[in-house]
Amino acid sequence: MEHLQTQGISLPRLGLGTFRMQGDACRAAVESALALGYRHIDTAEMYGNEEAIGAAIAGSGVARKDLHVTTKVWHENLAPDAIRRAFDASLKKLGLDHVDLYLVHWPSKAMNLPAIFETLLKLRQDGRTRAIGVANFNLALLKTAVEEIKAPIACNQIEYHVMLDQTPVRRYLAAKAIPLVAYCPLAQGKVASDPTLLTIGRKHGASAAQVALKWLLDQDGVAAIPKASRPESQQANLDALHIGLDDEDLKAIALLPKDKRCVNPGFAPAWD
Ligand SMILES: NC(=O)c1ccc[n+]([C@@H]2O[C@H](COP(=O)([O-])OP(=O)(O)OC[C@H]3O[C@@H](n4cnc5c(N)ncnc54)[C@H](OP(=O)(O)O)[C@@H]3O)[C@@H](O)[C@H]2O)c1
Repeated sequence: MEHLQTQGISLPRLGLGTFRMQGDACRAAVESALALGYRHIDTAEMYGNEEAIGAAIAGSGVARKDLHVTTKVWHENLAPDAIRRAFDASLKKLGLDHVDLYLVHWPSKAMNLPAIFETLLKLRQDGRTRAIGVANFNLALLKTAVEEIKAPIACNQIEYHVMLDQTPVRRYLAAKAIPLVAYCPLAQGKVASDPTLLTIGRKHGASAAQVALKWLLDQDGVAAIPKASRPESQQANLDALHIGLDDEDLKAIALLPKDKRCVNPGFAPAWD
């Protein structure tokens, strides 16, 4: 598995997303992923599954140093005291003494960014998270974080897939050597039935979902965290790394509609 080096951490380029997985089903999915070789697990306080993930990790036998765990603070908890409380609760539920990456899950309109980063950096300084980062930051917010506050963010986790253009943010992140972690990399499963991707897949003996995933992972500085509850899909997503897309495939993918955003909540600053 290839890794992206960022702010002192080594981020496996393919991780397991865990949104909408909870309890025993989540535990079983994470156990299966770890057994198949996944070493990057993405969660958040909002997902309500950190305990299940912690249990899966504890029973896996995978050395902590070989595992990357990301969790996130919800937008309602962005005051410094609330961040500290949320972080303590996440760590306790995960049963870990540190996480690898702690993200602002969503920006909120009322947030105080300098105070947020100061609080996150203290958590990093205390060794409780190895790196800090953001999610769902649009270009304007990213510029504020990187150029004004000079926050050492290890990634921006955003929605990105074959049906959504993210060129401006992607170019900015690439110029600053900050990884883009693609969430909803399968457009919440919609890519699986897309005729163009199915045709490309047939050519390579692959599925449409595998084509969509490889398109992302062929891009410099991009990681992806597909959610897959079944071991077969988890393995298929690992196998996607071996597909070789050619120029003809890339041209066909470029012609897909690029405005199919799956996630866009009203509480956050607008994307466009
Ligand atoms: N930072 C944020 O604000 C944010 C927002 C959204 C998501 N995320 C993160 O990103 C992760 C991924 O996003 P997502 O879960 O919304 O959507 P996604 O990963 O794009 O799609 C998940 C769907 O694809 C299906 N699937 C997985 N592998 C497949 C394969 N090989 N072939 C066919 N179908 C396949 C899954 O099936 P099953 O149902 O059978 O598993 C599920 O229905 C989340 O779980 C979460 O960790 C972050």
